[in-house]
Amino acid sequence: MLDLKRQYAPLQQELLEVVGHVLETQQFILGEPVAAFEKAAAEQLGVAHALGCSSGTDALWLALAAAGIGQGDAVITTPFSFFASVSAILRAGATPVLADIDPATFNLDPKAVQVVLKASQPVPIRAILPVHLYGQCADWTAFSRLERKFGLKLIEDAAQAYGADWKGIKAGALGDAAAFSFYPTKNLSAAGDAGMITTNSDDVAELGRALRQHGMRRRYHHDEIGWNARMDGFQGAILSVKLKYIDGWNQARRTIAKRYHSLFRQAGLAESGPYPFRGVVLPHEVAGSKHVWHQYVIRTPRRDDLRSFLTERKIGSEIYYPVPLHLQEALKPLGYKEGDFPEAERAAREVLALPIFPELREDEQQTVVAAVAEFLS
Ligand SMILES: Cc1ncc(COP(=O)(O)O)c(C=O)c1O
Repeated sequence: MLDLKRQYAPLQQELLEVVGHVLETQQFILGEPVAAFEKAAAEQLGVAHALGCSSGTDALWLALAAAGIGQGDAVITTPFSFFASVSAILRAGATPVLADIDPATFNLDPKAVQVVLKASQPVPIRAILPVHLYGQCADWTAFSRLERKFGLKLIEDAAQAYGADWKGIKAGALGDAAAFSFYPTKNLSAAGDAGMITTNSDDVAELGRALRQHGMRRRYHHDEIGWNARMDGFQGAILSVKLKYIDGWNQARRTIAKRYHSLFRQAGLAESGPYPFRGVVLPHEVAGSKHVWHQYVIRTPRRDDLRSFLTERKIGSEIYYPVPLHLQEALKPLGYKEGDFPEAERAAREVLALPIFPELREDEQQTVVAAVAEFLS
């Protein structure tokens, strides 16, 4: 599914040097290596501020808290994402409200969000938290319209979308604040847990900086209840090296996705969708958006059998995500039930992520598509 050693091999010397430098200078928490990374990332994304933090989950909580979202506020998000998209809202003290997804992109559907916004709500809705799922931005034109119309804040879950853009503006520079994850399987990956928030607002950045270290602006003087959510120096140093390569890696992912498209089409397996009939519905890139293909996710009706077939042939695949968030045990108190979000529920039964990473070879892709073809025949 993912071979990180292929990325490490050509970078080994460079990475060992910067790790050695952190050891020599003993800048283990924040400090110069993290500051240098923050500066380079902000420049690359075209955003005023970037704040390194300890994980994508902490980044989501920080982005919400620093944007002033907390108790007494509700936040609309998607039921089809990683758990943290909802749990971070709860950790911030706010109330998650869910709306269904668009079956073509798997992203939060602005039309479904509008229905929720027009209905009366027990807790006032203050923000929308769209997730740029699989590396493609949510429909920011539509969400910006809703933001203006309803006077809301927009928080991006950009955990899977470093380098993606919407109409030329990079993920991370679209919303009031954004959260990134650099978990090792992400398209921009640390060597451990790490994350980042970005914002164009000086106020959000200032509060975020304080909150990520226990609300401290002066040493041992605590102005807010924050948390320990700092990035460590090793991650900052490693990520600074990888920033130099990320555009090339994302470009390689785009080439690989395009090749999957043509291999599936040549094999006669591609169906028009959004739902599959017998074959596979290919993922698609929305006009005006630049997808970074963090994942290449097909839809297929006999998904679990196909996955077992691929596993028998030692071909990796993954299901992101098999259980929609409204049906998770821990989120039962939100009061949702099966049938509430039919698009998310159907996607959870049909999606299958195939191997994609910049170093994936053409012959490996051919093997994957040939195995899918064999199963479907
Ligand atoms: C969409 C999404 N949001 C949030 C997160 C949380 O990031 P992390 O694992 O770095 O805490 C992830 C990553 O797992 C993710 O995919």
